[in-house]
Amino acid sequence: MKIISNPIELKNYLKTIDKTIGFIPTMGALHEGHLSLIKDAKKNNEFTIVSIFVNPTQFNADEDLDKYPRRDEADKKICKLAGIDILFFPNVNDIYSKDEVSIASPNIRGYVLEGFTRPSHFNGVLTVVNKLLNIVNPSRAYFGKKDAQQLNLISLMVKQLFMNVEIVAVNTVRDLDGLALSSRNIYLSKEERKKALNIPGSLNLASNLVKNGELNSLKIIDKMRESLKDLEIFYIEILDREFNQIKNIKLKNTIILVEVKIGNTRLLDNIWL
Ligand code: PAF
Repeated sequence: MKIISNPIELKNYLKTIDKTIGFIPTMGALHEGHLSLIKDAKKNNEFTIVSIFVNPTQFNADEDLDKYPRRDEADKKICKLAGIDILFFPNVNDIYSKDEVSIASPNIRGYVLEGFTRPSHFNGVLTVVNKLLNIVNPSRAYFGKKDAQQLNLISLMVKQLFMNVEIVAVNTVRDLDGLALSSRNIYLSKEERKKALNIPGSLNLASNLVKNGELNSLKIIDKMRESLKDLEIFYIEILDREFNQIKNIKLKNTIILVEVKIGNTRLLDNIWL
């Protein structure tokens, strides 16, 4: 595995490679969720690149960038064992300069749900993903369905800016107890983690209601809200896969999304029906 931190060096190196490239952008602290993206990329491409970059522009002023988990050495080992070809590991100065061109997320879709409480978050995500895709120029880029709004906005950016990359959505990986894997789970105390299990619990409840014929979004949201009543709920939403609100579940075209705060940790999860 080659480790490259300079974007121009990486671009030049990739000019010598005539292979399909699968790309997995990450912020490190790699877990099984990332490994499932890597597995998918390795299966369907001839060459695999992972980037690790804790992107400062996607943190809001009140969010603690310095506290974001960093496990550089462990992450390098994981990438090597996973058999990736290049680990792109840039520094902040490799990616950003003082006077920056940036990408703005769309006025509506970028400022609802997670974007409502973290107003500049998706501008930062889209700006860095745009830069990373331009550096790597992959055939396919892999993102988890757990960050469904991020996935939706990245897909919109790629479509609206006529970019040449296929965005691949990969299923959420869960721990044995059902909690969706996230780099933020390490912030949870034992007690908080127990409470967090109400999140997949509420999504299972919704899924069972739908299986039993309940398709009314408001009724499902009410029941989910009841099951999450001990947690600080940011939102529970039922949307179609284009992220439009829907009054009734449309099978094979629905996402049910939840975000809650437990202690100081925000956790999000969703199911695709
Ligand atoms: O999902 C993430 O880890 C980040 O938001 C991403 C896509 C790597 C951009 O920094």
